[in-house]
Amino acid sequence: MTCWAVNPPARVLVVGGGYTGQRFAAAAAALGARVWLTHRGLTPPESGPATGLPWLRFDPDNGHGLELPEGITQVLVTIPPDSGGSDVALEQLLDPLRRQAITWLGYLSTTGVYGDAQGGWVDETSATEPNLRRSQARLRCERAWLSSGLPAQSFRLPAIYGPGRCPFQQLQAGTARLVHKPGQVFCRIHVDDIVGTLLHCLQLPAARRPALLNVSDDCPCPSSETLGYAAHLLGCKLPPLQRYADIAGQMSPMALSFWADNRRVSNRRLCHELGYQLRYPSYREGFAASLQEERQAAGRAAGS
Ligand SMILES: NC(=O)c1ccc[n+]([C@@H]2O[C@H](COP(=O)([O-])OP(=O)(O)OC[C@H]3O[C@@H](n4cnc5c(N)ncnc54)[C@H](OP(=O)(O)O)[C@@H]3O)[C@@H](O)[C@H]2O)c1
Repeated sequence: MTCWAVNPPARVLVVGGGYTGQRFAAAAAALGARVWLTHRGLTPPESGPATGLPWLRFDPDNGHGLELPEGITQVLVTIPPDSGGSDVALEQLLDPLRRQAITWLGYLSTTGVYGDAQGGWVDETSATEPNLRRSQARLRCERAWLSSGLPAQSFRLPAIYGPGRCPFQQLQAGTARLVHKPGQVFCRIHVDDIVGTLLHCLQLPAARRPALLNVSDDCPCPSSETLGYAAHLLGCKLPPLQRYADIAGQMSPMALSFWADNRRVSNRRLCHELGYQLRYPSYREGFAASLQEERQAAGRAAGS
């Protein structure tokens, strides 16, 4: 891979050192970039892929603003809108970022902005008609970043999975639910394909970086299919099948909202027009690799 980070040295700020932010930070640092991440709590996370990198506290809801390091060149924003629909990163950091020589800003958005397509395909040219309030807020924040004057790209993500974010623990704990809703599919993406996409875009000439990019794998499918495969990998039994129509009345509003939209997200722009090759084209390779990584981490923890 061409190393975008070497000359001149990239100085990357990850705003929101959560699940994806940490894996991106670790990958960028491994390529030679200087990377800072933000955390909210009193102290940075004690474990995870980005331990050892410099962390900065950013918790504006509790009065902790952020003093940007000098000379930041690239920024990744992973913070979602809050419950009131506001984006704290946008509110607090836009002006300071405008004063630096930023060459790229990646914003992690969601495919929820497309709304319900009744199982049909959506691509980056599709209408954005979100029904859910959080997706409406997301669309407003995405638009604000894209019109901020910074060289921003928005990455629209479906469900993110990877080590620690697969259904293995729920299956083992007996809390997984096998639900069937006729015609319903979900899209997903392995976290390392988000990281791979971000690095791929960073290597492209600025003029070739699209403002909007779906980052989804090749395999939209029902959640019962992915749960079945996870159980197969573990060699454990599936819970009894429940019909969505029978249990919807007992679901929380949040759980219900995950079933509200039904769409297939096209990755044509990413994989065909921009030439990115997915590491995990479907949950099958992705779950197997995640389970292996989880078991390796558990083995290291047991040995330490
Ligand atoms: N998870 C999914 O399946 C999914 C699907 C589509 C899109 N997305 C979006 O993609 C992005 C990355 O997802 P992820 O799963 O990697 O997210 P994540 O692990 O929850 O990381 C988000 C980061 O933002 C920080 N943050 C949140 N609210 C904040 C606030 N008010 N002030 C300061 N920091 C704040 C979090 O801090 P704490 O660690 O303290 O909470 C965390 O570091 C998010 O915007 C998410 O909504 C996620």
